[in-house]
Amino acid sequence: MSKDPIRSITSITPQVIRDWSEPRPILALTAYDYPVARLLDECGVDILHVGDSLGMVVMGYQDTVDVTMDQMCHHTEAVARAAESALVTADLSYASYKDAEQAVKNARRLRDAGAQAVKMEGGEGISLQIEAVLAEGIPVQGHLGMLPQSIRQEGRYNRKGRSAEEIEKLKRDALHLQKLGVFSLVLEAVVHQVAGQMTRLLDIPTIGIGSGLETTGQIQVIHDVMGLYPWFVPPFAQQKANLAELFRQAISKLKVDLDSSA
Ligand code: KIV
Repeated sequence: MSKDPIRSITSITPQVIRDWSEPRPILALTAYDYPVARLLDECGVDILHVGDSLGMVVMGYQDTVDVTMDQMCHHTEAVARAAESALVTADLSYASYKDAEQAVKNARRLRDAGAQAVKMEGGEGISLQIEAVLAEGIPVQGHLGMLPQSIRQEGRYNRKGRSAEEIEKLKRDALHLQKLGVFSLVLEAVVHQVAGQMTRLLDIPTIGIGSGLETTGQIQVIHDVMGLYPWFVPPFAQQKANLAELFRQAISKLKVDLDSSA
């Protein structure tokens, strides 16, 4: 049986996000598989992000550090197959962009799996990698603030932008990434007021998670929104449903029906 082709062009492109002109905020959600990606695309979500958060919410790991490029490509293929309208972005996994050559090799893999853009965590320290991926014609999304791939060095998930020094670094890195040519910037767990200041400082859109409401858009992990990972809910989760409870109810009904038919 032949596999459906992977779409790598949808109506929302990195350029559309870069020049975001709608009055409403950009809505980005993570997706890791075909049915969820298809539902989100049909709901009009702007960006489907294949996040390395799949390490936790799909694989059951403690953090994102053990996620591999093979896993990222596998999930990106499924999401890209579903996307008709939304932009598909994907994370370069931990330690997959230690230098420019490695970054290009792995960004090509994600592009070939159907991602229209790749996301990398970091600022000035990964300039060479970002430049090389952009030179390959692959759009890059930046990611500043709390960087989950650095959790084992940092020891805990710290909010960023709390000291003058941190604020200065965040703004310098953001302007630097914009100059390199990233088309948008994810701000994770940044002090809300600072995220607002960064958004006003930049021409590119900012997409916040746990960074307040003054960013150009918002990104959430789909399991947090749908209540599908009840064992850990981050404080900034925008939970809108309780699918874990629906699961439990449905399976107990199934068990009751089966038991009564025995
Ligand atoms: O992996 C992820 O889920 C992310 C977040 C910013 C949503 O990158």
